[in-house]
Amino acid sequence: VLEEKDAAEAAQCPHAASRARSLDAIPGPTNWPLVGSLIQLLRKGGLARQHEALVDYHKKFGKIFRLKLGSFESVHIGAPCLLEALYRTEGNYPQRLEIKPWTAYRDLRGEAYGLLILEGKDWQRVRRAFQQKLMKPSEVVKLDRKINEVLVDFVARIGEKNGKIKDLYFDLNKWSFETICLILYDKRFGLLQDEVNEEAMNFITAVKTMMSTFGTMMVTPVALHKTLNTKTWQDHTAAWDRIFSTAKVYIDKKLVKNAVRDPDDLIGDILHQSSLSKEELYATITELQIGGVETTANCMLWAIFNLSRNPVAQSKLLEEIREVVAPGQDPCGEHIKSMPYLKACLKESMRLSPSVPFTSRTLDKDTVLGDYAIPKGTVLMINSHALGSNEEYFEDGKQFKPERWLRENNTINPFAHVPFGIGKRMCIGRRLAELQLQLAMCWFVRDYEIVATDNEPVDVIHSGLLVPKRDLPVAFIKR
Ligand code: HEM
Repeated sequence: VLEEKDAAEAAQCPHAASRARSLDAIPGPTNWPLVGSLIQLLRKGGLARQHEALVDYHKKFGKIFRLKLGSFESVHIGAPCLLEALYRTEGNYPQRLEIKPWTAYRDLRGEAYGLLILEGKDWQRVRRAFQQKLMKPSEVVKLDRKINEVLVDFVARIGEKNGKIKDLYFDLNKWSFETICLILYDKRFGLLQDEVNEEAMNFITAVKTMMSTFGTMMVTPVALHKTLNTKTWQDHTAAWDRIFSTAKVYIDKKLVKNAVRDPDDLIGDILHQSSLSKEELYATITELQIGGVETTANCMLWAIFNLSRNPVAQSKLLEEIREVVAPGQDPCGEHIKSMPYLKACLKESMRLSPSVPFTSRTLDKDTVLGDYAIPKGTVLMINSHALGSNEEYFEDGKQFKPERWLRENNTINPFAHVPFGIGKRMCIGRRLAELQLQLAMCWFVRDYEIVATDNEPVDVIHSGLLVPKRDLPVAFIKR
């Protein structure tokens, strides 16, 4: 049956049609002069609801559609076969959409670019220097001690707050910030204490300001903001100044010490062994920090929510944890290797409640995807949210069913689940994020029952990541 289904799908979606049609033939919503589909999108709830609008467009137009918002034009792909076709034709230096406010700041201050914004051979060189350690499971597993050090504090904090943390998302952001800083700089900032020190608060506030000011300058010209010295531009540059000055202090400290490094000092090894310039190291480490905080916190938030609404899955997970982690032992990286249900719970949570709804590629050559020949320079949007919510690829897609990922039942196309992106440019923090999230799930579920405090629907809005519209109705009850 499966082979028949695959064959039928392949017929509908060949990797490269023999006579491909042009970009103009790709269907899409109404394209008015100047505004494109902007008004239609605003009527559908605006940018905060764009994830839902894009799913609707995929339902209406199929696996591929073309969208113009003002002067910004993109082609959206939401089918495993098209992602696979893209992956198979990928060149050596895949490109994402340029984050102009970030490059403008770096150019202004003469700072280097990191992985999020580098392109071409420079991107490949820096990526290689970091990838050898950061994408290798046998290296990343060594970080479990540092991850656990912060988790011990977080678990204690849940206890101190009697199982009800008021702004859980903010606290999870502090948890992921504290963890990534410990990994990158060997520095505890003390963010999980009630009295947070000033330097730590300034650092976390600067990251928040930088993130909340760049969106506006993605849709209006950065050059104009810079020339008019708008408040957005001033806040953005001041925030970057603080981020760089703080990060540099700790990177410098790591650069001077460390003649003998701890076995889990992956970053120390990279700093000392790569031939990257000091500026490249500053930029890349800072961007690892930026890339790793809210994404991980958001993903943890949704995992907590999904477990609270699915007590049967949570009991099964607890059973697995108790089988693998002996009483009195701390969960560690080695334990995770024998926990398939835990891994399935995380995957299922990321499918049902993705954090990053889509990523992008700017085509560096003419490429045939399915029925269409798409020219070089076109921006492609890869919609992992639309894929994960498509019943064609996930039966009972609205249900939280970790079992679907277990080997004996798993018929899922790997290109249907891409929460960390695809190919050579996929998330470099993936292994670290997975370990951090899996260990956190182990600690939380072992020590607490995660319960739903109401069962009303939770609305999701797009604000860079997909976030809940209200505080999540969850509480932790000590086991
Ligand atoms: C890129 C998701 C955690 C650092 C990306 C991309 C996605 C993503 C979708 C774009 C990939 C593509 O275009 O194909 C996530 C999610 C995370 C997470 C869902 C947590 C659950 C992290 C962490 C770090 C990190 C912990 C840092 C240690 C980066 C960097 C890039 C990236 C530097 C750019 C890589 C490059 O272009 O070479 N991430 N990420 N991310 N992420 Fe993550």
